[in-house]
Amino acid sequence: MKHLLGIEALTASEITALVEHAVVLKAERSRGTIGDELKGETWAMIFTKSSTRTRVSFEVGLTELGARSLFLNANDIQLGRGEPIKDTARVLGRMVHGAIIRTFDQQDVVDFAEYGQIPTINALTDEEHPCQILADLLTIRERLGGWEEKKVAFFGDGDCNMGRSWAWAAKHLGFELVIAAPAAFQPDAAFLERLGEAPVILTEDVEFAAHGADVLYTDTWVSMGREAESEERLRILKPFQIHEGLVKLANPGAIVQHCLPAYRDKEICGSLFEERAEEIFQQAENRLHAQKAILIALARGR
Ligand code: CP
Ligand code: NVA
Repeated sequence: MKHLLGIEALTASEITALVEHAVVLKAERSRGTIGDELKGETWAMIFTKSSTRTRVSFEVGLTELGARSLFLNANDIQLGRGEPIKDTARVLGRMVHGAIIRTFDQQDVVDFAEYGQIPTINALTDEEHPCQILADLLTIRERLGGWEEKKVAFFGDGDCNMGRSWAWAAKHLGFELVIAAPAAFQPDAAFLERLGEAPVILTEDVEFAAHGADVLYTDTWVSMGREAESEERLRILKPFQIHEGLVKLANPGAIVQHCLPAYRDKEICGSLFEERAEEIFQQAENRLHAQKAILIALARGR
């Protein structure tokens, strides 16, 4: 694996190998064993959007693997004043060993990988959030034993990065994904055409989506960059909140997942969030373990 630009470009065996390696790394860390596969390296983290989990988990992960992280707020470097991403990539590619990028346009991550010629990780774009999905799959493996034969129900803004990355995961791994979203917030036709044949069902019926689900998943209704649409989004997406009533329709043992940050009583009922905090924050912790597996796979794939 040379880059992680999206779940779209991964194969089922690459996904499974990353999750299985994350299981091992997590167990080793709990025993106090930490490797140094990235010893002496410096990885740049170029972030155009806010972050808590992604930033901290990558900085900690890099440190634990022996590397140094160089956090670059896009507004503090010339990129923020209009220097092209391909020039930024050609400079950094000569100085650092890898790049972790959070931005708006997926093409920027693709261009960075092409021009930088160093391992490049998509740390969230408007198109995909692959690091989050790999941590989610790790959590599903830990909590449910795996994703085979499982039904994942995604509620809310199905056309955001999370909905799209979930759709690619379902296509590659073959589990059932039901996206419950209002028509205006379902993945668009161009995306569905690119996705092609996949076990993904789109519906506006939240009860149908919840029925027999093993994972009830949600994300903010107002993704970063969509703030101007907040009022309209909160109004249209209101019926798509995850609440106790929907959990009752799910399979016994079903888990509630949220990639975070969570907005209580918007996309998830506040009391349900607290009741399920253990499994939701386990998911957040798994960002660290999954991303260490990604970093090692990219270092080995150079
Ligand atoms: N889930 C996630 O990516 O969180 P941050 O935006 O805090 O990094
Ligand atoms: N869809 C959200 C995910 C946040 C982790 C966003 O892009 O803001």
